[in-house]
Amino acid sequence: MIRIENLSKTYDGTTWAVKNLSLTLQAGEFVVVLGKSGSGKSTLIRLINRLVEPSAGRIFLGEDEVTQASPARLRRLRRRMGMVFQEYNLVHRLSVLTNTLAGALGEVSPAAGLLNRFPAAAVERACEHLNRLQLGDKIHQRADRLSGGQKQRVGIARALMQEPELLLADEPVSSLDPATSRVILDILKRVNRERGVTVLCNLHLPALAREYGTRVLGLRAGRLVYDGPPENLGTEEVNEIYGAAD
Ligand SMILES: Nc1ncnc2c1ncn2[C@@H]1O[C@H](COP(=O)(O)OP(=O)(O)O)[C@@H](O)[C@H]1O
Ligand SMILES: [Mg+2]
Repeated sequence: MIRIENLSKTYDGTTWAVKNLSLTLQAGEFVVVLGKSGSGKSTLIRLINRLVEPSAGRIFLGEDEVTQASPARLRRLRRRMGMVFQEYNLVHRLSVLTNTLAGALGEVSPAAGLLNRFPAAAVERACEHLNRLQLGDKIHQRADRLSGGQKQRVGIARALMQEPELLLADEPVSSLDPATSRVILDILKRVNRERGVTVLCNLHLPALAREYGTRVLGLRAGRLVYDGPPENLGTEEVNEIYGAAD
């Protein structure tokens, strides 16, 4: 579903944020990317949806090459990839419903989007997602009045509005307490199982990677140092990923 070939990224021309990465993600996998701060996890996600341009290498979503796509084609490819962010990226003063509908902006004209005019079917779909995520009683509440866990559920509902094939989640639980983190990861797991959405999720805790991943990737200084099942992620592998000396 995603094929990455010899992908590299340098921002400054001297250090590698991602270095010569090649891998294939199968449809339906729940892939957890582990690595300490600065190891290249966010860069990898931003390369996949081309929020940053690679310095070298190619990325394919299915048969379509992301790295060569024209702006119009890239817009269509991006609609197939939902994003979930650490800091939720909601518009604070807007309602839960309006924030969720932002995920359907690709379906309406820019003018309609500016006026927050969405087709009734999109509104209905948004409400369904919000109900399923236990936010049915919050749809008219301002986003900034929600708890962190509720905000992240809105973030997930917004991503699901795109009906994505792939969910890219960049440290979606790093701002949340342990119990709420599990609630959010359980939701991502359910979306993965029930809807067959492939998930690529950056985390920094090995324990959560073992619990939720069907596959774990370990990044260290932009290089892939582990690629395997969670049950093979032992102390040695964790040291390889997190080891003090780069
Ligand atoms: N926009 C940027 N400009 C310059 N350097 C960046 C930028 N984003 C990330 N980096 C550098 O790239 C490396 C990888 O960063 P990042 O992908 O954010 O890692 P992680 O998400 O694992 O913390 C780090 O050395 C970081 O300083
Ligand atoms: Mg990051």
